[in-house]
Amino acid sequence: MRKKIVAGNWKMNLNRSEATELINTVSEHLSGDIQDRHIWIFPPFPFLTDAVRKTAGTPIKVGAQNCSMYTSGAYTGEVAADMIASCDAELVLVGHSERRQYFNESNLVLTEKINQALGNNLCPVYCVGETLEERQGGKVEEVIEKQLVQALYHLSAEKLQQVVIAYEPVWAIGTGETATPDQAQEVHAFIRKVLADQYGEEVANEISILYGGSVKPANAEELFAMNDIDGGLIGGASLKASDFIAIFNAL
Ligand code: PGA
Repeated sequence: MRKKIVAGNWKMNLNRSEATELINTVSEHLSGDIQDRHIWIFPPFPFLTDAVRKTAGTPIKVGAQNCSMYTSGAYTGEVAADMIASCDAELVLVGHSERRQYFNESNLVLTEKINQALGNNLCPVYCVGETLEERQGGKVEEVIEKQLVQALYHLSAEKLQQVVIAYEPVWAIGTGETATPDQAQEVHAFIRKVLADQYGEEVANEISILYGGSVKPANAEELFAMNDIDGGLIGGASLKASDFIAIFNAL
């Protein structure tokens, strides 16, 4: 059974005391049984250890927003997957569109990051998505397929099953404009088909595919009700504890 997940991507927001407060509020509101749902947060690097400590004994899992494509060495400013794992974080975002767009991360670089994550027992959340221009040019499937094939197809079926995918249309990120449930479902089903072509349906059906892009308490439920949408990757709304909890409760 694939996992149902709500994940919060904090991006480059909050200082240390604000981060602590957010974690405390979110965990206080999760005291009940969350059953088979999963709740993940991705704070900035300097708060990772704090976040791991503060969430110990709660259902919340912690991840980093990026990792280096290199193992270790003279790469000033980089953070290795091994370092993240050694802080007891369990997850890492790979290929967020802001990394692709502002830091020129290509699918080939992201292949290395996926390998680094898996090699250090971190669960990579691999992000794919098209720009508005690509959507308007009828290229959604072409773009998404290339992002999947180039970064994931080298993996064994066993390794692929350790990956979570997030579909985040670039035009919906931070814009307040959300894909409609049907638009999102169409791409999620396509992603599953691309995975099934290489790995078979049984494996593809085990992969969690999250939707991201302006998810809010008001639209979460209808998105999460779609067949191939297994939860959400939440940016802006994950910075407000009450919104993040409401979105989690919609799962
Ligand atoms: P948003 O960001 O929810 O603020 O649109 C989503 C993301 O970038 O992961």
